[in-house]
Amino acid sequence: MPLVASKDSDIVFQSYGRCCNNPIFFVDFYDRFMGCSDAIRDQFRDTDMKQQRHLLRNGIMQLVLYARGMSDAKLKALGESHNRHGYNIRPEWYTQWVDALITTLRDHDPQFDLNVEAAWRRAIAPGVELIRSAY
Ligand code: HEM
Repeated sequence: MPLVASKDSDIVFQSYGRCCNNPIFFVDFYDRFMGCSDAIRDQFRDTDMKQQRHLLRNGIMQLVLYARGMSDAKLKALGESHNRHGYNIRPEWYTQWVDALITTLRDHDPQFDLNVEAAWRRAIAPGVELIRSAY
C-alpha cells in the first residue's frame, strides 16, 4: 500500500532526477547538515565522506520508494544502524537532516517551489519516521 499519493512521488522523483546526478548536490547537503552543529559534525569525524555521499544517494531513494509502497526492509536496517545501540543518532537531529535536504534541493533544483517542497516533505516523512522511531 502506498503511503503517499502517486502524484507526490512523481513530483519527487522528477525533482531528485534533476539533482542527484550532480555529485556536488551531496557535497552541499553534508556541508549544510554538518554546519548545523558541532554535535552533528562530530558524528562524521571518522567517516569516509566520499563513500558516505554515495550511500546517501541510495538512502534518499529508499525513503521515496518506501513511500511508494516498497518493502520496509532497507529502512528497518537503517533504523538499526542509526539507533542507540548503533551510531546513536538522536531523534531530534532528523528535523535538521530533513531541513538540510530541503534547502539543498532548493539550491539545486531549478524547478523547486512550495509545491515541490510540500511533495518532498510528505513523501519522505514516513521513511524518516521509521528510522527515527527505531531509536
Ligand atoms: C532519514 C534520514 C537518514 C538517512 C536516509 C540516512 C542514511 C544513511 C545511510 C544509507 C548510511 C550508510 C549505511 C549505514 O551505515 O547504515 C548512513 C550512515 C550514517 N548516518 Fe545516516 N541517514 C539519515 C539520518 C542521519 C542523521 C540524522 C544522522 C546524524 C548525524 C546520521 C548519521 C550517520 C552516521 C554517523 C553514519 C555512519 C557513518 C560512517 O560509516 O562513518 N544519519 N546513513
